[in-house]
Amino acid sequence: MNHFSQEIIAIVPAAGIGSRMQAQCPKQYLPLAGSCILSVTLNVLLSHPAISRVVVALHPQDEYFAKLPEAQHPKLTQVIGGGERVDSVIAALASLHEVDAWALVHDAARPCLTHQDIDKLIASQRQFPQGAILAAPVRDTMKRASGNGCIDTTVPREALWHALTPQFFPALQLKQILQQAVAAGVNVTDEASAMEWAGIMPGLVSGRADNIKVTHPDDLPLAQLYLSHHQHIKQALE
Ligand code: C5P
Repeated sequence: MNHFSQEIIAIVPAAGIGSRMQAQCPKQYLPLAGSCILSVTLNVLLSHPAISRVVVALHPQDEYFAKLPEAQHPKLTQVIGGGERVDSVIAALASLHEVDAWALVHDAARPCLTHQDIDKLIASQRQFPQGAILAAPVRDTMKRASGNGCIDTTVPREALWHALTPQFFPALQLKQILQQAVAAGVNVTDEASAMEWAGIMPGLVSGRADNIKVTHPDDLPLAQLYLSHHQHIKQALE
């Protein structure tokens, strides 16, 4: 049980075309666990009791979403996304009328998110009132490449983390900072990078490393495996 007092709204940028997957359709619509990646992701968020609404940002020419069962869900609304991920997130945030809400921004392409990790991130607001992100410590030895394809140096990994999603911030402040960062020409690859640019240092909340972003064709069977593993654990606990 969490004791978060503000409303929590999930924002799902799903307007990408997923060119790195080399698939027939945008990657969020590729089959997974009997439905598709986006359906699985949306279901994790829609079924979480602390999340009051889910806003999904879609490509202007999206012809798949309306056919998903989640499109009719009473907690779900749709907006048209933009040219970059950050534009899609801004479009979704701009549609909110709740002034005090917190936004939980989560990539459509990360279907293996668990309710436990969402709970952990929400609970972290006590420690990190400025907002926080799920992240995973780097495990491998890290190398910086030189221009000629060789190793330039080994980078100490102790302080390095993979930034995951969800990323959790006050919605209105996040929208304003994202807009300012874009206007200033900052390359905003996640919400935290815009907050950092504004001098606000988000908390790092250690999340599950299996919360992968499906990016390449090889990632899909891995996501399937992780999901079945989560299902087995859930069944064993019931
Ligand atoms: O391409 P990548 O995997 O980095 O995209 C991360 C997320 O951002 C995906 O869920 C994708 O659909 C979304 N996105 C978006 N609008 C864009 C580009 C990407 O909503 N213009």
